[in-house]
Amino acid sequence: MKGEETMPKSISEIIPTRRTIRQFERRPVGRKLLERLVEAARLAPSAANLQPLEFVVVDEEQMCRGVLAHLKWAAYIAPAGNPKPGQEPAAYVVVLVNTDIREKMFEYDVGAAQMSMILAAWEEGVASCWIMSVEKPELAVLLGLPPNLKVDSVLALGYPAERSVTEDYKDSLSGSEGGRGERPTRVFPRT
Ligand SMILES: Cc1cc2nc3c(=O)[nH]c(=O)nc-3n(C[C@H](O)[C@H](O)[C@H](O)COP(=O)(O)O)c2cc1C
Repeated sequence: MKGEETMPKSISEIIPTRRTIRQFERRPVGRKLLERLVEAARLAPSAANLQPLEFVVVDEEQMCRGVLAHLKWAAYIAPAGNPKPGQEPAAYVVVLVNTDIREKMFEYDVGAAQMSMILAAWEEGVASCWIMSVEKPELAVLLGLPPNLKVDSVLALGYPAERSVTEDYKDSLSGSEGGRGERPTRVFPRT
């Protein structure tokens, strides 16, 4: 699957066509785009404008392998959801919290920053998986972080090598069967 085929064009297409993707093409994500993602994250809303987040871009092959070793993929569809050999993410943005600035209540900032990156990436046909199941101390060692910078979560990125379907809300209270990422939608229908 080529990224261009699924490349959305406007925000009204970007939001409904975005899905978590865990299988990627062996194709690099350009540095310029990665920098744009970090810029999108940096400009996301921040509670009290404290700006406690920092970002590390990882796109070098050996370092990517190191990051991958500390990630866990959706347990509820494992092992089918794990990236297959040759379909690993091409790059990562590691989201850090500066605990000198905030020790708690930074999670909303992280959510806003992650979502900005996810949508900005998908605008360019680059899919992603937001990963919270991370071996955080080990990843901090790999990245050589000082004690005041804590790993919060990771955004895995790459051109998609799988499709993920979206179900209509009707009769859609279960999902994720058979190792696929079907979305169980629990929106109460308004009439
Ligand atoms: C805060 C947060 C943490 C997540 N952590 C993980 C994770 O550790 N591993 C993983 O494979 N997916 C993770 N995901 C992705 C979810 O599994 C995914 O968003 C969900 O299945 C809905 O699918 P969709 O994004 O395609 O709509 C996370 C999502 C969020 C919002």
